[in-house]
Amino acid sequence: MKDIKSEAQDCKVQVLVCTNERPPGKSCCHKLGGQDFYLALKNRLKQEGLYNTHWVTRTGCLGFCNDVGTTVAIYRQGQSTQWFNEVTAADMDSLWQEIVRE
Ligand code: FES
Repeated sequence: MKDIKSEAQDCKVQVLVCTNERPPGKSCCHKLGGQDFYLALKNRLKQEGLYNTHWVTRTGCLGFCNDVGTTVAIYRQGQSTQWFNEVTAADMDSLWQEIVRE
């Protein structure tokens, strides 16, 4: 096992976006735009030059499945984790403000 703490120290914020896909008939973030939201957020971080300090990761089920939108968690060094669900493309700007706040 290799300790990569020094390699990961540039990460100030890590955003997890559920893109989990479940069988037909069951709610899942993949069907509700999770993958598109993940890609849009990843592109915005690149465009804004924040990709090295603000990481975005797609995940499996985060345990908050619903019929409205995807589940997102924001981890920030030294602060409590923020959790959001029912996130849709319309929420990108408000979620972005949460991601880039100091
Ligand atoms: S499938 Fe995304 S929270 Fe369960």
